[in-house]
Amino acid sequence: MTTATRVLTDEMIEKIKAFFLRYPTRQAVTLPALHVVNERLRCVPIQAVVEIAELLGLAPADVQDTLSFYNFFKQDGPHGTTRAWVCRSISCALRGGEEVLSHLCHKAGIKPGQTTPDGKLTIEAAECLGACEFAPCMLANEELHKNLTPAEGEAFLGRLLERS
Ligand code: FES
Repeated sequence: MTTATRVLTDEMIEKIKAFFLRYPTRQAVTLPALHVVNERLRCVPIQAVVEIAELLGLAPADVQDTLSFYNFFKQDGPHGTTRAWVCRSISCALRGGEEVLSHLCHKAGIKPGQTTPDGKLTIEAAECLGACEFAPCMLANEELHKNLTPAEGEAFLGRLLERS
């Protein structure tokens, strides 16, 4: 019988356990736990789901349900060191968001949801980023970029990739 290689480090486990006192139930810790893993691995592999479930006393399916509900966590491999979300909801779509998205994907040689082969960039289509008055918008890592044109989006990503 083979044993799967464990994914959660001691540091991750301690970080997750620190949430136990702050949340009313272990189930409520599921989402923060997923973020702990995602922040470190840039994905949440299925083995991490199993280990989070074990730690929280839940069924792996419960953790997996939470994970898939948000459509945020990758399981097939890490996202790029830069993850760019280009909004395609109505306000942004009406003001060129789709063009920004397809231009950036074209320049990077990938499709929405994919990562460049060097692992530096993932481009995602996003639903409303809550900044409709500045459409079209892109969230890249922690920064919101407003009133984007395709050229500005490309220049911004170029700067980010130079730094990474
Ligand atoms: S529609 Fe794009 S930020 Fe709201």
